[in-house]
Amino acid sequence: MSPQDELKRAVARAAVPFVPAHAVIGVGTGSTVDCFIDALGEAGVQLAGAVSSSERSTAKLRALGVPILDCNDVDSLPVYIDGADEIDPGFSMIKGGGAALTREKIVAAISTTFVCIADASKRVPVLGRFPLPVEVIPMARRQVMRQLAELGGEPVWREGVLTDNGNLIIDVRGLTIDDPRATEARINQIAGVVTNGLFAARGADVLLLGTADGVQRLDRP
Ligand code: 5RP
Repeated sequence: MSPQDELKRAVARAAVPFVPAHAVIGVGTGSTVDCFIDALGEAGVQLAGAVSSSERSTAKLRALGVPILDCNDVDSLPVYIDGADEIDPGFSMIKGGGAALTREKIVAAISTTFVCIADASKRVPVLGRFPLPVEVIPMARRQVMRQLAELGGEPVWREGVLTDNGNLIIDVRGLTIDDPRATEARINQIAGVVTNGLFAARGADVLLLGTADGVQRLDRP
């Protein structure tokens, strides 16, 4: 196992105490979340259920015997556990490397506490080195890419990938995102964009950061 995988497992285990007993929780997507689901199983946590952000996480949770609830049957969730591709000092994030950004944003929106689990490589001073994923309705691909280029980015179609919602992903390279809220809102205004992977209007509340010196807990400034 690589040192980065070890850090993912460590932050995943550190997130388990944030899960209230017999609760319904929100579960994100990705390799770090896979470790979190494994950690739930190892700790023997009994959940009333989960609202999942992807088919990938749903399959893993079901294998553990966790009931999966429809988001429309839930008003709020006490906690949402998810990873990130980048997180900045204000706890805004880029997410969507695993193409699950839209469902992640929906589940995060009904959650009281967003716990981000990430290895130290994800912490950055300014967002944008990781290409920003944008979920796009297929018929709008060409015109959305043109408008993203006009904003100063270099849009690249993630060919061969369809989201769980049947849409496309455009990754935007070369953006320096020093106002994440404004950029999130601006890109979401483009017709044909479902949402983009900036989580700034609803960022993380708690960051569990895996470092060589152990897991650090940081709270939103
Ligand atoms: C998926 C995501 C993930 O949280 C993000 O890509 C981080 O993934 P990983 O834990 O595999 O590094 O946003 O859409």
